Amino acid sequence: MRIFLDTAKVAEIKEAVAWGVIDGVTTNPTLLARAGQADVAAVTREICALVPGPVSVEVLGTTAAEMIREARTYAAWKLNTAVKIPMTVEGLKAVKELSQEGIKTNVTLIFSANQALLAAKAGATFVSPFVGRLDDISHDGLAVIRDTAEIFRLYGFTTEIIAASIRHPLHVLAAAKAGAHIATVPFAVLKQMVKHPLTDIGIERFLADWRALTEKQTGPA
Ligand code: E4P
Repeated sequence: MRIFLDTAKVAEIKEAVAWGVIDGVTTNPTLLARAGQADVAAVTREICALVPGPVSVEVLGTTAAEMIREARTYAAWKLNTAVKIPMTVEGLKAVKELSQEGIKTNVTLIFSANQALLAAKAGATFVSPFVGRLDDISHDGLAVIRDTAEIFRLYGFTTEIIAASIRHPLHVLAAAKAGAHIATVPFAVLKQMVKHPLTDIGIERFLADWRALTEKQTGPA
C-alpha cells in the first residue's frame, strides 16, 4: 500500500520523506490556506521535487470548461501532478476529456461507491473517498472503500482508490485491509502510526539494563 501525505506544508513533507515512507502528496485549497501558500505553481514545484509519486492539485472552477482549462495549465508545468476534480456532473465531463488527453485526475469529495464507480467509468486515475467526513456524520466511511474496492476488482477498473479524510491510524489500517491502494494521511496521523508505548518502554529497558551491566563491570561514570 502506498502512503501519501495530506498537506501543503513543505517542512512536514521534507520530514516525512526523510523517514522513507512517503510516495506522494495530496493538497486542496484548505490545506494550501493552512500552509499560507497562495502561489500554487511554486509550492507544487517544490513538493514535486521532494516526492516520487504524484502531487494532487485541486481545481477551483465549477464548470467542465473551467476545470479543463485549469487542468491543462497544471499539466503544462510538466510535473508529476494529478488534477483533483470534484465529484459533480461537470467534474465527470472534465475527467472524460482530461483522461483522453492523458492528464491524470483524482476525483475528490467521493462519499459513495456509486460516485466512485461513475468517476472510474469517466476515466479517473484516482478516486478519493472521504472516510473521516462520513464517520463524522455517523456513516460508515470504510464501507465506501470496501464496496469500491470490490466493484473495481470485479469489473477490472484500473482506477486507484485513495482513502482520504483520514482521522487516526485505525483508519489507515482498516483502509489497507479494505483494499485501498493508497491512504493519504495528515502528518499528525503519520507520527501516531510510528508510535507505540511498548516500543518506548522497550528502548528504555534495553538502555537501563545495558547501563546497569556496564556500571557493575566498570563502576558508575
Ligand atoms: C484529500 O485528498 C482530502 O482533501 C483530505 O483528505 C480531506 O480531509 P479532511 O476531511 O480532513 O478535510
